[in-house]
Amino acid sequence: MKLLLIGFGVVGQGLAQILRDKAAELKSKHNFTAEIIGVATASKGALYRSSGLDISALLQAAEGGSFVDFPDQPGLRRDMTVREMIMIGEADVLVEASPTNLETAQPALDFCYQALEAGMHLALANKGPVALDYAGLRAKARAKGLLMRYEATVMAGTPTMRLAQDALAGCEIRSARGILNGTTNYILTQMEKGLSYDDALAQAQAQGYAEADPSGDVEGWDAAGKVLILANALFGGKLAMADLAVSGITAISAADIADANAAGQRYKLIARATPDGGEVKANRLPLDDPLASVGGATNAITLETDLLGDITLIGAGAGKLETGYAILSDLLAIQRRLTAKRNPPANPS
Ligand code: HSE
Repeated sequence: MKLLLIGFGVVGQGLAQILRDKAAELKSKHNFTAEIIGVATASKGALYRSSGLDISALLQAAEGGSFVDFPDQPGLRRDMTVREMIMIGEADVLVEASPTNLETAQPALDFCYQALEAGMHLALANKGPVALDYAGLRAKARAKGLLMRYEATVMAGTPTMRLAQDALAGCEIRSARGILNGTTNYILTQMEKGLSYDDALAQAQAQGYAEADPSGDVEGWDAAGKVLILANALFGGKLAMADLAVSGITAISAADIADANAAGQRYKLIARATPDGGEVKANRLPLDDPLASVGGATNAITLETDLLGDITLIGAGAGKLETGYAILSDLLAIQRRLTAKRNPPANPS
């Protein structure tokens, strides 16, 4: 499988590291091999090589902050635009892992449409295109017979979308409620331990949890993007940001947190999606609420279903390998689909 990576920050590097370190296991257990043939970033530059880029060299160059130091190799190009990398038509999957823009979803949204037009499947970690134009992208992918996967956009590699869409197929999901932002949950947890808001945020940034612009995390917009993704993907809605009531954690002080604790409660930023709408709001939960015990960058979601009651999934919500793995899980799903297409089951006689 040939990959084109847009963005090579925490998530792109996480995926690259997994592809390198698990290459033998993925080949032997899943007959899966992947080559990164193109990488395009806003800050480090761009690289393209039809026969694949050396992953260790990519990671080393990224550590230095620029692809200028990536060693020259036969066939290596450093001058291609994303559009040219897409239009040359050599990649099977566009991996969109550039920073999320929840106002316009651009430039990622245009790249996604160009990739679908060129016959490439999509694996998105970038929440913008899925949150703002789920229905349009889904329609285009279907019309082209291509897959659009976006496991990384909600709860990193914790299999939220696969649980809801694959494992729970046949159940009606009535609502989704959870802690969907790792940065704010980490900050609230650390503040409860006595750290200042600023120090806790700095730690969340250092650990790679926060967005490039962390105001999107702390003001609730990142969780709101996930609410849109859940609402539109699970409930077939056509909600927009303006339909949601959104607030974050910036107004919560150390005194508020101590106050809640003294009353046997804990602040959590709760995101909720239903077929009719959604919201993001800091709530004081009683300590015996299952979501109250979810600390640090960990996320949790409770899906309310018709046949199974409530199902709660708890796991990583952010991080380098955690989110890189989400993309790997999408790539494996795309490979399973391609394999099934190539080898359809024999007709029963
Ligand atoms: N900034 C996000 C978070 C990353 O903190 O949850 C994962 O979407």
